[in-house]
Amino acid sequence: MTHGFQLTELTCDKLDRVKRDPRYKKITDKDIAYFKTILPHWRVLVQGEIPEEVHLEYANDWYNVYRANTPVILLPETTEHVSEILKYCNQESIAVVPQSGNTGASGGSIPVFDEIIISTRVLNRIRSFDELRGDLVCEAGCVLQELDNFLSQAGFQVPLDLPARHLCHIGGNISTNAGGIRQMRFGNLHGSVMGLEVVLPDGTILDNLTTMRKDNTGYHLKNLFIGSEGTLGFVTAVSIATQRIRPAVNVFLLAFCSFEDVVKAYTLARRELPETVAAFEVLDSDTIEVVRDQDFQIPKGSSFPINDTHPFYVVMETAGKDKDIEDLRADRFVKFLKEEGVTLDSGVARTQEEIERFWSWRNNVPKAIVQSAPSSIHFDVSLPLPELYNLVKACREWATAEGLIGPDILAVYGYGHVGDGNMHLTIPALRDDEALRVKIDDFVYGWTAQFKGSCSAEHGIGLMKSPYLAFTKSSTMIANMRKIKDVFDPKGIMNPYKVFPTKEQEEHGELVRRRAQAGC
Ligand code: FAD
Ligand code: LAC
Ligand code: ZN
Repeated sequence: MTHGFQLTELTCDKLDRVKRDPRYKKITDKDIAYFKTILPHWRVLVQGEIPEEVHLEYANDWYNVYRANTPVILLPETTEHVSEILKYCNQESIAVVPQSGNTGASGGSIPVFDEIIISTRVLNRIRSFDELRGDLVCEAGCVLQELDNFLSQAGFQVPLDLPARHLCHIGGNISTNAGGIRQMRFGNLHGSVMGLEVVLPDGTILDNLTTMRKDNTGYHLKNLFIGSEGTLGFVTAVSIATQRIRPAVNVFLLAFCSFEDVVKAYTLARRELPETVAAFEVLDSDTIEVVRDQDFQIPKGSSFPINDTHPFYVVMETAGKDKDIEDLRADRFVKFLKEEGVTLDSGVARTQEEIERFWSWRNNVPKAIVQSAPSSIHFDVSLPLPELYNLVKACREWATAEGLIGPDILAVYGYGHVGDGNMHLTIPALRDDEALRVKIDDFVYGWTAQFKGSCSAEHGIGLMKSPYLAFTKSSTMIANMRKIKDVFDPKGIMNPYKVFPTKEQEEHGELVRRRAQAGC
C-alpha cells in the first residue's frame, strides 16, 4: 500500500545486505503449467498477466517498505492444494513465502527476490464452532474481524484484537504470535490456540487440530509454529478457545503529566480492577496530534474528548458482566485517580458510539503516521515498564543531536501496549532511505539491548530485524533455532532470508548483548 506516496523501491535493489541464494530455482513456464494442474487456473496469478495493482496487493507491504518481483501468487482453496504445491516446490527447490492478510510489520510476508507467494486468501472457511465451550476451528485465511462478527452472534469473541483486524487473517496472527490491544486480558496465543493444521515443506499434513483444552502427550509441536513467521511450515487451519463477551464495557480516556503517572495508574488499575481491566494503551501528545492532523477522528472532524493538551493519554478498557456494577466501579476508579493526583483529566465512554469514538484515537494511529510522511520507521520493542518511555525520550534527544529532525525525519512518536511492556516508537521519515533506517535501527536496538529488552514484542523479526536478532537472543538459542529449522525444512524453501541473521550479524549482536548483560 502506498498511502498516497511513491511506491517503495524493490527490496532486492534496496537491501545490499541480502544476496539471492542460487540454490533456489528460477520459476519456468513448466512450473506455472504444473501449478495450473493443481489449482483452478484463475487461482494462479502470474506477474504480467494480472493488473499491476493486483500484483502489488501481494507484492508490496502495508507500510510500503518492502516490494518484490514475485513471479507467481498461488491461491490454494484447500489444505490438500497447499500440500501438493509444497511437495512440488520442495522437490524443485522453489522458495516460497506464506502470506495471509499482508499486514505484517516486519517484512516477513513479502518475498525478497523471486520467491513465490502462497496466499491464504481463499482458504477461509469456518470448519466448526462449539457454542457450549466456544471452541472454534477455522481455516487460516479467515479475516480476524469477520471471525469476531461470526462469534459475536453466539456471545463469543476471538481472544485477540488489533487495529489491522479488518485486513489480517488468523493464520498470519498465529504465524506472528500477534499481541494487540487485549493481550493483557487474554494472554498470548500460545495459551488460546489449542491446535493447528500445518503443511510441512515436503507436503506432509501435520494434523494437530485438537479441541482438547488439556493434552500433555509428548512435545507441544503447535507452539513451534506459533510465531515462526512462515519459516517452518504453512498453517492451514487453527483450533482456538474463544472467550465469552463481557457486555458491560467502559472505555476511559485519561490524561497525565508524566509517564511515571501512567505507570502509577496502570499499577492502580491492576490493583483496583483486577478481573475486568482488558486494555491499557498509552499515546504521547504528538501521537494524538498526528491523528488529528490526518483527520482520522470518528465521527469525522469530531474533537478530541479531552479539551486541554497534556503530555500523555491512556485509553483503558474494562469489561465485566453487570452494567450497574461496572459503571459504578469505573466512576469510583476515575475519582480515585483524581484524588490521588495521578490524572489531570478524564472521560468515560459507555455507549457504542462513544466507545468507538474513544478507541478511534488509538486504532487510527498506525494509519495516521504512515500517511503523514513518505516513509516510516517503526519499532515494537519490549522493555521493563519504567524504561518504556525513556527509549522515546532518548531517541528524540539522539535524533536532535544528530541533526535528523527536520532534514530527515519529522518527529519521534511513542505509543503502545503499556499493559504488555510494549512500546511502539514510530518515526515518519522524509524519504525512503535505507542508510537512515539502519542508523536509527542501530541506535534503538542498541539502547533496547542495554536495558535487556527485546527487539520485537509482537511484530516478529521478518526481514526487518534479522540483523538484530542476536541483540536479544544468544548464539546458543539461535544455533538451536537453526537446528529446528533444518529438521522441518532441510532444503530451506520456507520464507528464506527471514528471521535468521548472517554469521557476522550474529557475532556482532552477541557482542552487544554480552556487553549489555555485563552492564558496560
Ligand atoms: P501476513 O502479514 O500475511 O504474514 C505475517 C507473517 O506470517 C509472514 O512472515 C508470513 O510469511 C507468515 N505467515 C502468514 N500466513 C502464514 C501461514 N498461513 N502459515 C505460515 N506462515 C504464515 N501486530 C500486533 O501484534 N499487534 C498489533 O496491535 C498490530 N497492529 C497493527 C495495526 C496495523 C494498522 C497494521 C497494518 C499492522 C498491525 N500489526 C499488529 C501487525 C500485523 O497486523 C500482525 O503481525 C498480523 O498478525 C499479521 O497478520 P497477516 O494476516 O497480515 O499476516
Ligand atoms: C499497533 C501496531 C502497529 O499496536 O502494532 O498499532
Ligand atoms: Zn501493537
